[in-house]
Amino acid sequence: MKRLTVPDILARKGGTPMVVLTAYTAPMARILDPMVDILLVGDSLGMVVYGMESTLGVSVDMMARHGRAVASQSKHALVVVDLPFGSYQESPAQAFATSARILNETGCQAVKLEGGIEMSDTVNFLVERGIPVMGHVGLMPQRVHAMGGYKYQGRNEEDAENILRDAKAIQDAGAFSIVMEGVKESVAHDITTKLRIPTIGIGASPACDGQVLVIDDMLGMGGYIPSFVKPYAHISQVIEQAVKTYGEEVRNRTFPSDEYCFPYRKKTP
Ligand code: KIV
Repeated sequence: MKRLTVPDILARKGGTPMVVLTAYTAPMARILDPMVDILLVGDSLGMVVYGMESTLGVSVDMMARHGRAVASQSKHALVVVDLPFGSYQESPAQAFATSARILNETGCQAVKLEGGIEMSDTVNFLVERGIPVMGHVGLMPQRVHAMGGYKYQGRNEEDAENILRDAKAIQDAGAFSIVMEGVKESVAHDITTKLRIPTIGIGASPACDGQVLVIDDMLGMGGYIPSFVKPYAHISQVIEQAVKTYGEEVRNRTFPSDEYCFPYRKKTP
């Protein structure tokens, strides 16, 4: 199976919407890889995998470790790894060092960073040195404190204009696609039609060129589920039922039954 490339993703602008999901572990990457266009090793792993309250505590070491696990099981999707908070905002040189480390250590194909016009020099610096960059505008979780919470963005005309300005700046700096998070449909539509690069929406309506969801949210793994997420499964209930049955069978000694015991066990009187 041929791996999708950055030019393949660019060519999807305005075509069949792209399917993007986060993945943080090798077994999940193995399942998702043939079915998605992009696997995103999001820094949401801080909250989803490590139980943090925000993504701010995620380190480059964590991203490198999970990025490697995901990339090791991927043959088809483009694998994008998030640059975590504090690892790229200081300067283009800092962003290059972090991105180079992540590409070297994980085998992923691109990095993602949050920010608008203020990050455009950094995006340009990376792209000119051969590092494909996915942007991220609108609701930017790494700025949760500055934004006063995880709030929908682009509520008034001025905010909507700013998001468009940010998205254009990131595109013009050379990004190959851009995540738009938590924006109104009218804003997502306007930006998607005005950009040359594909937009990937999360809580941003079907107007985008693709959709991304956090895998644990869409599988119904439990915990808080944002209102824009459709639970395609209720895996936490499946796990609860399986563990309940296992617990009962261990306690009443019906597990392990003969078929799950080594032969010598059967011979024991
Ligand atoms: O970290 C992440 O999972 C993300 C997606 C929500 C887009 O950035």
